[in-house]
Amino acid sequence: MNTEIIKLDQQKIDKKAIEKAAQWIQKKELVAFPTETVYGLGANGLDPEASAKIYAAKGRPSDNPLILHISDIKQLVPLVQEIPEAAKKAMRAFWPGPMTIILNKSDLVPLETTGGLSTVAVRMPDHPIALALIAKSGCPIAAPSANASGRPSPTLAEHVYEDMEGKIPLILDGGMVGIGIESTIIDFSGDMPMILRPGFITKEKLEEVIGETVAIDPAVLKMKRMEGAAPKAPGMKYRHYAPKAKLVLVSGSEHNVISYINKKTKEAHDNDKKVGVIGTDETIALFDADVVLSIGTSSSDRTIAHSLYAVLRQFDHEDVDLIYSQVFESGQNGFAIMNRLMKAAGYERIEV
Ligand code: TXA
Ligand code: MG
Repeated sequence: MNTEIIKLDQQKIDKKAIEKAAQWIQKKELVAFPTETVYGLGANGLDPEASAKIYAAKGRPSDNPLILHISDIKQLVPLVQEIPEAAKKAMRAFWPGPMTIILNKSDLVPLETTGGLSTVAVRMPDHPIALALIAKSGCPIAAPSANASGRPSPTLAEHVYEDMEGKIPLILDGGMVGIGIESTIIDFSGDMPMILRPGFITKEKLEEVIGETVAIDPAVLKMKRMEGAAPKAPGMKYRHYAPKAKLVLVSGSEHNVISYINKKTKEAHDNDKKVGVIGTDETIALFDADVVLSIGTSSSDRTIAHSLYAVLRQFDHEDVDLIYSQVFESGQNGFAIMNRLMKAAGYERIEV
Protein backbone atom coordinates (compact mmCIF):
# COMPACT_ATOMS: atom_id res chain seq x y z
CA MET A 1 0.00 0.00 0.00
CA ASN A 2 1.23 3.47 -0.87
CA THR A 3 1.28 5.86 2.12
CA GLU A 4 0.40 9.40 1.11
CA ILE A 5 1.41 12.38 3.28
CA ILE A 6 -0.64 15.57 2.99
CA LYS A 7 0.80 18.68 4.65
CA LEU A 8 -1.87 20.89 6.18
CA ASP A 9 -1.88 24.45 7.42
CA GLN A 10 -3.64 24.50 10.80
CA GLN A 11 -4.80 28.08 10.26
CA LYS A 12 -6.36 27.29 6.89
CA ILE A 13 -7.17 23.61 6.67
CA ASP A 14 -7.61 22.26 3.15
CA LYS A 15 -11.20 20.90 3.06
CA LYS A 16 -10.40 18.51 0.21
CA ALA A 17 -7.72 16.79 2.29
CA ILE A 18 -10.12 16.36 5.21
CA GLU A 19 -12.76 14.95 2.84
CA LYS A 20 -10.25 12.49 1.44
CA ALA A 21 -9.21 11.41 4.94
CA ALA A 22 -12.84 11.04 6.04
CA GLN A 23 -13.51 8.85 2.99
CA TRP A 24 -10.71 6.51 4.02
CA ILE A 25 -12.20 6.34 7.53
CA GLN A 26 -15.64 5.58 6.07
CA LYS A 27 -14.05 2.83 3.96
CA LYS A 28 -12.77 1.22 7.22
CA GLU A 29 -9.19 2.29 6.49
CA LEU A 30 -6.62 3.96 8.77
CA VAL A 31 -5.59 7.62 8.73
CA ALA A 32 -2.86 9.10 10.94
CA PHE A 33 -3.53 12.64 12.17
CA PRO A 34 -2.02 15.18 14.57
CA THR A 35 -3.48 15.93 18.00
CA GLU A 36 -2.10 18.35 20.59
CA THR A 37 -0.47 15.46 22.49
CA VAL A 38 0.97 13.02 19.92
CA TYR A 39 -0.05 11.75 16.45
CA GLY A 40 -2.95 9.28 16.45
CA LEU A 41 -3.66 6.32 14.18
CA GLY A 42 -7.38 6.65 13.47
CA ALA A 43 -10.17 4.32 12.36
CA ASN A 44 -13.94 4.14 12.77
CA GLY A 45 -14.19 3.29 16.47
CA LEU A 46 -17.63 1.73 16.22
CA ASP A 47 -16.62 -0.76 13.53
CA PRO A 48 -14.82 -3.91 14.74
CA GLU A 49 -13.30 -4.55 11.32
CA ALA A 50 -11.79 -1.05 11.21
CA SER A 51 -10.44 -1.29 14.78
CA ALA A 52 -8.88 -4.65 13.97
CA LYS A 53 -6.75 -2.92 11.32
CA ILE A 54 -5.29 -0.62 13.99
CA TYR A 55 -4.09 -3.61 16.04
CA ALA A 56 -2.58 -5.18 12.91
CA ALA A 57 -0.77 -2.02 11.73
CA LYS A 58 0.73 -1.32 15.17
CA GLY A 59 1.42 -4.92 16.12
CA ARG A 60 -0.59 -4.10 19.25
CA PRO A 61 -1.80 -6.82 21.66
CA SER A 62 -5.57 -7.19 21.30
CA ASP A 63 -6.22 -6.76 25.05
CA ASN A 64 -4.96 -3.18 24.90
CA PRO A 65 -8.01 -0.91 24.45
CA LEU A 66 -8.27 2.14 22.20
CA ILE A 67 -9.34 5.72 23.00
CA LEU A 68 -12.39 7.04 21.13
CA HIS A 69 -11.87 10.61 19.89
CA ILE A 70 -14.88 12.89 19.56
CA SER A 71 -15.30 16.44 18.23
CA ASP A 72 -18.38 17.44 20.24
CA ILE A 73 -19.42 16.62 23.83
CA LYS A 74 -22.83 15.48 22.49
CA GLN A 75 -21.08 12.53 20.81
CA LEU A 76 -20.18 11.16 24.25
CA VAL A 77 -23.74 10.43 25.41
CA PRO A 78 -24.51 7.40 23.19
CA LEU A 79 -21.09 5.83 23.93
CA VAL A 80 -21.46 5.53 27.70
CA GLN A 81 -23.95 4.53 30.39
CA GLU A 82 -24.03 7.39 32.87
CA ILE A 83 -21.80 10.46 33.21
CA PRO A 84 -20.96 11.22 36.86
CA GLU A 85 -20.95 14.86 37.97
CA ALA A 86 -17.18 14.79 38.54
CA ALA A 87 -16.60 13.68 34.94
CA LYS A 88 -18.87 16.46 33.68
CA LYS A 89 -16.86 19.05 35.61
CA ALA A 90 -13.58 17.71 34.24
CA MET A 91 -14.89 17.66 30.67
CA ARG A 92 -16.18 21.22 30.91
CA ALA A 93 -12.82 22.40 32.22
CA PHE A 94 -10.39 20.41 30.07
CA TRP A 95 -12.10 19.54 26.76
CA PRO A 96 -11.03 19.95 24.11
CA GLY A 97 -7.68 19.05 25.63
CA PRO A 98 -5.15 16.44 26.78
CA MET A 99 -7.50 14.48 29.04
CA THR A 100 -9.04 11.04 28.41
CA ILE A 101 -11.92 9.89 30.59
CA ILE A 102 -12.99 6.33 31.27
CA LEU A 103 -16.66 5.49 31.80
CA ASN A 104 -18.86 2.39 31.61
CA LYS A 105 -19.53 1.75 27.93
CA SER A 106 -22.86 1.39 26.13
CA ASP A 107 -23.67 -1.48 23.76
CA LEU A 108 -22.86 0.78 20.83
CA VAL A 109 -19.12 0.43 21.54
CA PRO A 110 -17.75 -2.89 20.29
CA LEU A 111 -15.64 -4.99 22.65
CA GLU A 112 -12.99 -5.11 19.89
CA THR A 113 -12.41 -1.38 20.52
CA THR A 114 -12.20 -1.71 24.31
CA GLY A 115 -10.02 -4.81 24.38
CA GLY A 116 -12.90 -6.76 25.90
CA LEU A 117 -13.46 -4.29 28.79
CA SER A 118 -16.89 -3.02 29.86
CA THR A 119 -15.49 0.52 30.09
CA VAL A 120 -14.53 2.90 27.29
CA ALA A 121 -11.90 5.65 27.07
CA VAL A 122 -12.99 8.91 25.38
CA ARG A 123 -11.20 12.15 24.59
CA MET A 124 -11.86 15.38 22.69
CA PRO A 125 -8.51 16.50 21.29
CA ASP A 126 -7.57 20.18 21.07
CA HIS A 127 -6.34 20.26 17.50
CA PRO A 128 -8.15 21.80 14.52
CA ILE A 129 -7.09 19.02 12.11
CA ALA A 130 -8.19 16.24 14.47
CA LEU A 131 -11.52 17.96 15.19
CA ALA A 132 -12.18 18.57 11.47
CA LEU A 133 -11.43 14.94 10.60
CA ILE A 134 -13.68 13.54 13.35
CA ALA A 135 -16.54 15.88 12.44
CA LYS A 136 -16.30 15.05 8.73
CA SER A 137 -16.03 11.29 9.32
CA GLY A 138 -19.29 11.31 11.29
CA CYS A 139 -18.16 8.70 13.82
CA PRO A 140 -15.98 8.57 16.92
CA ILE A 141 -12.44 7.84 15.81
CA ALA A 142 -10.52 5.18 17.70
CA ALA A 143 -6.90 6.29 17.82
CA PRO A 144 -3.90 4.99 19.68
CA SER A 145 -0.59 6.80 19.32
CA ALA A 146 0.54 6.24 15.71
CA ASN A 147 3.79 4.40 16.56
CA ALA A 148 4.52 0.73 16.06
CA SER A 149 3.81 -1.02 19.37
CA GLY A 150 6.73 -0.55 21.80
CA ARG A 151 8.31 2.42 19.98
CA PRO A 152 8.26 6.05 21.18
CA SER A 153 5.03 7.90 20.36
CA PRO A 154 5.22 10.10 17.23
CA THR A 155 5.37 13.87 17.64
CA LEU A 156 6.04 14.55 13.94
CA ALA A 157 4.46 13.15 10.75
CA GLU A 158 7.95 11.84 9.82
CA HIS A 159 7.89 9.62 12.93
CA VAL A 160 4.55 8.16 11.82
CA TYR A 161 5.98 7.51 8.36
CA GLU A 162 8.96 5.68 9.89
CA ASP A 163 6.62 3.23 11.61
CA MET A 164 3.60 3.08 9.29
CA GLU A 165 4.96 3.35 5.73
CA GLY A 166 3.16 0.84 3.49
CA LYS A 167 0.67 -0.04 6.22
CA ILE A 168 -1.78 2.88 6.00
CA PRO A 169 -3.06 4.94 3.05
CA LEU A 170 -2.77 8.46 4.51
CA ILE A 171 -0.94 10.65 7.02
CA LEU A 172 -2.22 14.17 7.69
CA ASP A 173 0.87 16.23 8.47
CA GLY A 174 0.17 19.12 10.84
CA GLY A 175 3.82 19.63 11.85
CA MET A 176 5.18 19.21 15.35
CA VAL A 177 2.56 18.57 18.06
CA GLY A 178 2.13 21.06 20.91
CA ILE A 179 2.52 18.98 24.07
CA GLY A 180 4.53 15.91 23.13
CA ILE A 181 3.33 13.34 25.70
CA GLU A 182 0.04 11.44 25.68
CA SER A 183 -3.11 12.60 27.45
CA THR A 184 -3.79 12.16 31.16
CA ILE A 185 -6.14 9.18 31.55
CA ILE A 186 -8.66 9.45 34.38
CA ASP A 187 -11.03 6.66 35.28
CA PHE A 188 -14.48 7.79 36.45
CA SER A 189 -16.02 4.31 36.38
CA GLY A 190 -15.12 3.45 40.00
CA ASP A 191 -15.93 4.91 43.42
CA MET A 192 -13.17 7.51 43.30
CA PRO A 193 -11.69 9.22 40.20
CA MET A 194 -8.31 7.65 39.49
CA ILE A 195 -5.45 8.67 37.21
CA LEU A 196 -4.29 5.67 35.17
CA ARG A 197 -1.70 7.54 33.09
CA PRO A 198 -0.14 10.87 34.14
CA GLY A 199 -0.01 13.71 31.60
CA PHE A 200 -0.14 17.46 31.13
CA ILE A 201 -3.36 17.70 33.21
CA THR A 202 -2.14 16.93 36.73
CA LYS A 203 -3.83 15.45 39.80
CA GLU A 204 -3.77 18.92 41.42
CA LYS A 205 -5.50 20.57 38.44
CA LEU A 206 -8.14 17.83 38.35
CA GLU A 207 -8.82 18.05 42.09
CA GLU A 208 -9.20 21.82 41.86
CA VAL A 209 -11.88 21.47 39.17
CA ILE A 210 -13.68 18.38 40.46
CA GLY A 211 -13.59 19.37 44.13
CA GLU A 212 -12.82 15.86 45.34
CA THR A 213 -9.74 13.74 45.89
CA VAL A 214 -8.26 12.11 42.80
CA ALA A 215 -6.30 8.88 43.31
CA ILE A 216 -3.36 7.68 41.23
CA ASP A 217 -3.18 4.04 40.14
CA PRO A 218 -0.74 2.52 42.71
CA ALA A 219 1.06 0.59 39.96
CA VAL A 220 1.82 3.91 38.20
CA LEU A 221 2.83 5.66 41.40
CA LYS A 222 5.42 3.03 42.22
CA MET A 223 7.49 3.77 39.11
CA LYS A 224 9.09 0.37 39.42
CA ARG A 225 8.97 -2.80 37.44
CA MET A 226 5.68 -4.36 38.49
CA GLU A 227 5.59 -6.94 41.13
CA GLY A 228 2.06 -8.09 41.83
CA ALA A 229 -0.31 -5.21 41.08
CA ALA A 230 -0.90 -4.75 37.35
CA PRO A 231 -1.61 -1.22 36.16
CA LYS A 232 -5.30 -0.58 35.46
CA ALA A 233 -4.67 0.78 31.94
CA PRO A 234 -3.65 -2.37 30.08
CA GLY A 235 -1.24 -0.41 27.85
CA MET A 236 0.81 0.72 30.84
CA LYS A 237 2.11 -2.76 31.49
CA TYR A 238 4.07 -3.10 28.28
CA ARG A 239 7.67 -2.02 27.82
CA HIS A 240 7.13 1.09 25.83
CA TYR A 241 8.65 4.16 24.35
CA ALA A 242 11.93 2.33 24.23
CA PRO A 243 14.88 3.28 22.02
CA LYS A 244 16.87 0.43 20.47
CA ALA A 245 20.01 0.97 22.58
CA LYS A 246 19.85 0.28 26.31
CA LEU A 247 18.92 3.39 28.29
CA VAL A 248 20.03 4.03 31.88
CA LEU A 249 18.81 6.96 34.02
CA VAL A 250 21.25 8.60 36.39
CA SER A 251 20.08 10.83 39.26
CA GLY A 252 21.85 12.80 41.98
CA SER A 253 23.51 16.21 42.16
CA GLU A 254 24.29 17.62 38.72
CA HIS A 255 28.01 17.44 39.44
CA ASN A 256 27.84 13.76 40.46
CA VAL A 257 25.65 12.81 37.50
CA ILE A 258 27.99 14.42 34.97
CA SER A 259 31.15 12.88 36.51
CA TYR A 260 29.54 9.44 36.73
CA ILE A 261 28.39 9.49 33.09
CA ASN A 262 31.79 10.77 31.90
CA LYS A 263 33.52 8.00 33.87
CA LYS A 264 31.20 5.40 32.32
CA THR A 265 31.83 6.90 28.88
CA LYS A 266 35.58 6.44 29.34
CA GLU A 267 35.06 2.81 30.37
CA ALA A 268 32.84 2.24 27.32
CA HIS A 269 35.43 3.81 25.01
CA ASP A 270 38.08 1.48 26.45
CA ASN A 271 35.82 -1.37 25.28
CA ASP A 272 35.24 0.17 21.82
CA LYS A 273 31.65 1.04 22.67
CA LYS A 274 29.86 4.26 21.77
CA VAL A 275 27.82 6.21 24.28
CA GLY A 276 24.85 8.58 23.92
CA VAL A 277 23.71 11.09 26.53
CA ILE A 278 20.40 12.88 27.08
CA GLY A 279 21.07 16.18 28.85
CA THR A 280 19.66 19.70 28.84
CA ASP A 281 20.65 22.94 27.08
CA GLU A 282 22.50 23.79 30.30
CA THR A 283 24.49 20.54 30.60
CA ILE A 284 25.18 19.15 27.10
CA ALA A 285 28.54 20.91 26.76
CA LEU A 286 29.78 19.12 29.90
CA PHE A 287 29.51 15.52 28.64
CA ASP A 288 32.30 13.61 26.83
CA ALA A 289 30.00 11.04 25.16
CA ASP A 290 29.90 10.38 21.41
CA VAL A 291 26.39 11.72 20.83
CA VAL A 292 24.95 14.23 23.29
CA LEU A 293 21.39 15.48 22.73
CA SER A 294 19.50 18.17 24.59
CA ILE A 295 15.96 17.37 25.65
CA GLY A 296 15.14 21.03 26.40
CA THR A 297 15.94 23.59 29.04
CA SER A 298 15.94 22.69 32.73
CA SER A 299 14.02 25.92 33.37
CA SER A 300 10.96 24.62 31.46
CA ASP A 301 9.59 21.10 31.92
CA ARG A 302 7.21 21.91 29.04
CA THR A 303 10.16 21.95 26.61
CA ILE A 304 11.33 18.61 28.01
CA ALA A 305 7.93 16.94 27.53
CA HIS A 306 7.85 18.40 24.01
CA SER A 307 11.19 16.88 22.89
CA LEU A 308 11.21 13.63 24.89
CA TYR A 309 10.00 11.23 22.19
CA ALA A 310 11.85 12.94 19.33
CA VAL A 311 15.11 12.57 21.28
CA LEU A 312 14.44 8.89 22.05
CA ARG A 313 13.71 8.28 18.36
CA GLN A 314 16.76 10.22 17.23
CA PHE A 315 18.96 7.80 19.12
CA ASP A 316 17.68 5.01 16.90
CA HIS A 317 19.44 6.77 14.01
CA GLU A 318 22.68 7.17 15.94
CA ASP A 319 25.29 4.50 16.22
CA VAL A 320 25.48 4.16 20.02
CA ASP A 321 25.59 1.05 22.21
CA LEU A 322 24.35 2.61 25.42
CA ILE A 323 22.47 5.78 26.39
CA TYR A 324 22.66 7.61 29.72
CA SER A 325 20.08 10.20 30.68
CA GLN A 326 19.71 12.75 33.43
CA VAL A 327 16.34 12.64 35.23
CA PHE A 328 13.74 15.40 34.76
CA GLU A 329 11.46 15.33 37.75
CA SER A 330 10.68 18.96 38.40
CA GLY A 331 7.70 21.04 37.30
CA GLN A 332 4.13 20.03 36.62
CA ASN A 333 5.11 17.67 33.79
CA GLY A 334 7.87 16.01 35.81
CA PHE A 335 5.75 13.07 36.95
CA ALA A 336 4.46 12.34 33.42
CA ILE A 337 7.95 12.71 31.90
CA MET A 338 9.47 10.32 34.45
CA ASN A 339 6.61 7.84 33.94
CA ARG A 340 7.60 7.61 30.23
CA LEU A 341 11.36 7.77 30.77
CA MET A 342 11.40 5.09 33.47
CA LYS A 343 9.53 2.75 31.14
CA ALA A 344 11.85 3.57 28.24
CA ALA A 345 14.75 2.64 30.55
CA GLY A 346 13.09 -0.59 31.65
CA TYR A 347 13.12 1.01 35.16
CA GLU A 348 16.94 1.15 35.29
CA ARG A 349 17.82 4.11 37.44
CA ILE A 350 21.12 4.67 39.22
CA GLU A 351 21.50 7.05 42.16
CA VAL A 352 24.98 8.66 42.35
O1 TXA B 1 -2.87 11.55 23.91
C1 TXA B 1 -3.37 10.46 23.69
O2 TXA B 1 -4.14 9.90 24.51
C2 TXA B 1 -3.05 9.77 22.36
C3 TXA B 1 -3.64 10.63 21.23
C4 TXA B 1 -3.50 10.00 19.88
O3 TXA B 1 -4.97 10.93 21.52
N1 TXA B 1 -3.54 8.43 22.32
C5 TXA B 1 -2.96 7.43 23.05
O4 TXA B 1 -3.54 6.18 22.84
O5 TXA B 1 -2.04 7.60 23.80
P1 TXA B 1 -2.79 4.82 23.21
O6 TXA B 1 -3.65 3.76 22.63
O7 TXA B 1 -1.40 4.88 22.75
O8 TXA B 1 -2.89 4.75 24.75
C6 TXA B 1 -4.16 4.50 25.35
C7 TXA B 1 -3.99 4.00 26.74
C8 TXA B 1 -3.47 2.58 26.81
O9 TXA B 1 -2.55 2.48 27.88
C9 TXA B 1 -4.75 1.79 27.12
O10 TXA B 1 -4.48 0.59 27.80
C10 TXA B 1 -5.53 2.77 27.96
O11 TXA B 1 -5.30 4.00 27.33
N2 TXA B 1 -6.99 2.52 27.92
C11 TXA B 1 -7.83 2.65 26.86
N3 TXA B 1 -9.08 2.29 27.19
C12 TXA B 1 -9.05 1.92 28.49
C13 TXA B 1 -10.03 1.42 29.42
N4 TXA B 1 -11.29 1.24 29.06
N5 TXA B 1 -9.62 1.14 30.68
C14 TXA B 1 -8.33 1.32 31.06
N6 TXA B 1 -7.36 1.79 30.21
C15 TXA B 1 -7.71 2.07 28.96
MG1 MG C 1 0.60 4.56 22.80
